[in-house]
Amino acid sequence: MDRLSGTTAGQARDRTWPRSLTQVPYWAFQDEAVYRAEQERLFHGPYWSYLCLEAELAKPGDFCATFIGEQPVLVTRDVDGEVYAFENRCAHRGALIAMADHGHARDFTCVYHAWTYNLQGDLTAVAFAEGIGGKGGMPPEFCMAKHGPRKLRLAVVHGLVFGSLSNEVPDIEEYLGEEILDRIDRVLGGRRPVVLGRFTQMLPNNWKLYVENVKDSYHASILHLFFTTFGINRLSQRGGIIVDSSGGHHVSYSAIDRSAAASTEYSEQRIRSDSEYRLADPSLLEGFSEVGDDITLQILSVFPGFVLQQIQNSVAVRQILPRSVERTKLNWTYLGFESDTEEQRLVRLKQANLVGPAGYVSMEDGGIGGFVQRGIAGASGEYATVQMGGESAASSESRVTEASVRGFWKAYRGAMGYDLADSPPDDTRPGRHRRARVSRAGREDA
Ligand code: FES
Ligand SMILES: [Fe+2]
Repeated sequence: MDRLSGTTAGQARDRTWPRSLTQVPYWAFQDEAVYRAEQERLFHGPYWSYLCLEAELAKPGDFCATFIGEQPVLVTRDVDGEVYAFENRCAHRGALIAMADHGHARDFTCVYHAWTYNLQGDLTAVAFAEGIGGKGGMPPEFCMAKHGPRKLRLAVVHGLVFGSLSNEVPDIEEYLGEEILDRIDRVLGGRRPVVLGRFTQMLPNNWKLYVENVKDSYHASILHLFFTTFGINRLSQRGGIIVDSSGGHHVSYSAIDRSAAASTEYSEQRIRSDSEYRLADPSLLEGFSEVGDDITLQILSVFPGFVLQQIQNSVAVRQILPRSVERTKLNWTYLGFESDTEEQRLVRLKQANLVGPAGYVSMEDGGIGGFVQRGIAGASGEYATVQMGGESAASSESRVTEASVRGFWKAYRGAMGYDLADSPPDDTRPGRHRRARVSRAGREDA
C-alpha cells in the first residue's frame, strides 16, 4: 500500500505548475494522485496543523479526538498537566483507540482486543499477553515500549494547539512569523477562551477551494449580500491584507466605517450585494469593541488548513479537513472568554447567527465551493485566473486583491515540490471561439 501511494504521489509531482501565480490549474482540485500526494507532503510533512483548543483539555484526563488531514489523532492532558498528542490508531491491528470526539479518561483501552494506552500514548497492557495455562500469548521478545502509536510534535499558541507528524517542522514562532503571531495575539492574547458551541459543515468540494475562499477578500462583500447591505464588510472600508513571506498564512482586516456604507462604489458596479434589504432587528449588529480597537473584522489563516475569525463579536476557529478529492469537513468552534460579562456572552451567541449554522456566510461559502467544483468538471486542462491586484503575493492596503489567494498557491506549489513551467499564452490554446455548423451540404468551421 505504501509503495502504491508513493507511486501515485510521485505521479502527481511529475506534473508542472504555471510559473505565474495568476494561474491555478483546475486539475489541482480534481486529481486523486494530487490528493494522495497532499496527505503525504502537506499533512504528514513539515507543517503545523491545528488540532484543538487548550480550553477543550481543561482537566487532566480530558481528551480530543481530531485529525491532521485524514490522519486520526488523539490530544490529551495527562496528570502532569502537559498536553500530549499521538495517532488515534491502535498499535495492534489499527482500530481507533478513542471513538468519542471529546471526553475524559484515565487511560484508553482499544475496544477490539483491549490493548491499553496511557494518556501519553504509551502501550501499557496487552490482554492475554502470557496466554492461558502456559499456552498461546505473545512471544517473550515482544516489547511494549517498541509498539505504540506515533507521537506528534506539539505547539500551543495563545491556547491554540498545533501538531505535526514531522520532526523537520520549524518552531511555531518561526513558522508563523511575527505579523501573524501578533494578529493571533490581538484576538486571543491574555484571555482564556471558553467554548460556546461547535458545528460541522460537509462541503461538496476540494479542501483547497475552501482555503481560497477564506483568503479571498474580493468575494466577501459581493457573494455575501448581508455583509455589504448591513455595512459589516465593504471593500471601501478601511482595512488591508497581510500575507506572510511564505505566502501560506494571511490576515484580512477591516474597520466599520458608516461613510463607506454610504459610498456609491457598490451601486455603480450594479451587483447583487447592493440591495434594498434591511434587518428587521438591527440589534443583531450591536456589539462591543472586541479588543479595544476599531477592527471589526479579522480573518486569519495558517497554512495549510486553519482559520481564526473575528467578525464583530463572533470569534471562532475553523479546521479544514480534506475527506476526499471532492469532500471537505469543516469544523467550527465558537469562542467566548472567561472575562466576558453575561451581556457580552449573549452578544456573542446572537452574532454567531451572522456566521453560523443558521447564518448567511457559512451557507454561501459552503455552496460556492460546490459551484466551482461542478463548474470545472471537464476543464482539467484549464486554469483559474487570479489577477486581481496584480501578480504578487504581497501584503496590501487594498482588499480588492487576490494577493492572499496567490500566496496560498505560492506556498502550496513549493510544498508539493512542483516544477514550474511557462504556460502557453491564451491565444495559442485550442478550441477558443471556434464554431462548427453542420448542414446537409457538409461541415464548415466558422
Ligand atoms: S486492534 Fe486494538 S487491541 Fe487489537
Ligand atoms: Fe465567504
